[in-house]
Amino acid sequence: MSRRILVTSALPYTTGPIHLGHLFEHTQTDIWVRFQRMRGHQVIYVCADDTHGTGTMLRAEAQGITPEALIDAMREEHARDFSGFLISHDAYYTTHSEENRELSSLMYERAKAAGHIFNNDVAQLYDPEKQLFLADRFVRGSCPKCGTPDQPGDNCDACGATYAATDLVEPKSALSGAAPEVRSSEHYFFDLAPYAEDLRAWIDGGAVQPEVANKLAEWLDAGLKPWDISRDAPYFGFVIPGTKDKYFYVWLDAPIGYMAALKHLLATRNDVSFDDFWAPDSTSEVHHFIGKDIINFHCLFWPALLQASGFRKPTKVHAHGFITVNGTRMSKSRGTFIEAATYLEHLSPEYLRYYYATKISDGIDDLDISFDDFVQRVNSDLVGKLVNIASRCAGFITKQFDGLLSEQLPEPELQAEFAARSEAIAALYEQSNTSKAVREIMALADRANQYVAQAEPWNAIKDPARRDEVQAVCSQGLNLFRVLMAYIKPIVPKLAEDAEAFLGIAPLTWADSQTTLTAHRINPFKALFARMERKTLDAVVEASKQADAGGSAEVQAQVQEEEETVSDTISIDDFAKVQLRVARVVAADHVDGADKLLKLTLDVGDHQRTVFSGIKSAYDPADLVGQLTVVVANLAPRKMRFGTSEGMVLAAGPGGSDIFLIRPDSGAEPGMEVT
Ligand code: 2FM
Ligand code: ZN
Repeated sequence: MSRRILVTSALPYTTGPIHLGHLFEHTQTDIWVRFQRMRGHQVIYVCADDTHGTGTMLRAEAQGITPEALIDAMREEHARDFSGFLISHDAYYTTHSEENRELSSLMYERAKAAGHIFNNDVAQLYDPEKQLFLADRFVRGSCPKCGTPDQPGDNCDACGATYAATDLVEPKSALSGAAPEVRSSEHYFFDLAPYAEDLRAWIDGGAVQPEVANKLAEWLDAGLKPWDISRDAPYFGFVIPGTKDKYFYVWLDAPIGYMAALKHLLATRNDVSFDDFWAPDSTSEVHHFIGKDIINFHCLFWPALLQASGFRKPTKVHAHGFITVNGTRMSKSRGTFIEAATYLEHLSPEYLRYYYATKISDGIDDLDISFDDFVQRVNSDLVGKLVNIASRCAGFITKQFDGLLSEQLPEPELQAEFAARSEAIAALYEQSNTSKAVREIMALADRANQYVAQAEPWNAIKDPARRDEVQAVCSQGLNLFRVLMAYIKPIVPKLAEDAEAFLGIAPLTWADSQTTLTAHRINPFKALFARMERKTLDAVVEASKQADAGGSAEVQAQVQEEEETVSDTISIDDFAKVQLRVARVVAADHVDGADKLLKLTLDVGDHQRTVFSGIKSAYDPADLVGQLTVVVANLAPRKMRFGTSEGMVLAAGPGGSDIFLIRPDSGAEPGMEVT
């Protein structure tokens, strides 16, 4: 039965370029979409730029242009980048559209009529110079817990404490440097608690992956707090109906942007209607692909808002983990924060699509891109296995048989074996277990190569009596190749298109895996796929190297936002950079005005250092003198409010009075390296 499916990828922010992270998600979505299309389902795949918020306003201001001019230019760039990666959106729209304004207002009005919108005063930091309320990332100040200066408005990088921006000590606006004022203003809230039970039912009905369901259950068990959906002027966004200067928070209208993009697309089509997808009793499917950082928006706020406003909920939210590159988060200074456009200047999009496909699963664990593995997988699988089948067989057919395939295939059982994997591979694609689908396909490619290798057409052709056999073997090889191309087509659509042209066939569908090609004329073989060169990848990295975020606070916040979407793990190589040394405490002193810190003078073997350490709760300074500890010896000196700390003491324990250093009787000596 044919399904009708609406598919979305998360809407990229207008404020930054498309990079490897976006591409992972869009590749995952696009493979799923292309697979469904090949199965004969009706699929509409939409996306858009996520345009609203203070960031857009500030960035436009910095560039001396209007927010509208900025978002138009960025949308064009983003759409171009995605099409360069063969992402087959049916529409790439913008959230700053009339359709979105109307839908956002409608959904808000309906939620309000249902009695689930209310107002409350909220105290927030306000920049008197810039004359705007400051989002947490635009405030810096000293941590209210440990005193470390220059911390953002939500949590401390040094001690990990979380707090409200209004708790920061001596806060400063990151935009103007001015001391912010605390001002109170009226905010609009969407009450989520009444939807909790329906959300649970939706989650239990299989709308999310099991790991996501667990996370959501935690949040639901803790109780859903009302969601603040308004922001004060000045803001770039939609004015809330009935107000003069209150705007919808960007996250309110962003997912509605999915619907607006569809509406925009359907204005030019009459085969399907908006209600076909969004009416409460719709039998169509809606699938959202997202990163795991935005699960709360898509699996709580969004379905609740849809319900409140009389629309259906999504069929499924497919969440994925973050990517790391060579074991660490993407970094501008290392050149691993790779933009789509930079990549495309050097390399084929299908290398990356294929490599990503080998990583895509239905789980939400993070996944690593290793450059060595990347080059090796592409060359050994696509060139060495897949394309190799065609290049071994095609020459004989073209040169010896005028391009004509044999009338019968010599190995119908082998052909049937390949065809029989169709449903198993389809099931893997369906579940986004793409990496497993790839493994299946490559195992079949190995089988096909074995077959050709054993049949040795290059020897058989020397014997004129075995000409028919050569034609049959090569025809068999090309038929196996054709089935594999059908299976892998969602991943490498351009390669598949070139293979179709070479085979002289119509675009492959999934069902073509069940048929064969005989007594058919193919076209001369041209190299279908070039090997990937490591040095070209190195050139991409070189071209991506930039000084780490400098410039305005706004740019820094943006970079931080982007870099935060990758995981926190470090590789063994990173760990190897950490120099650990045994140190003896020579002196330990209280620090005036610090609750947790002690100032330690450490003998690290060949010299002494000062280190501030948050272990006051566990030690009387007098008891520490003479003790041994382990110190990170190559940590860059860090300026703190009380002086400069030249390293870090490693201590472990549950905290309070139980924080452990090494005991003096352990046989360690100052200066010893800890390995
Ligand atoms: O996290 C992000 O990048 C957001 N711009 C995603 C929005 S998805 C949707 F809800 F609009
Ligand atoms: Zn702190």
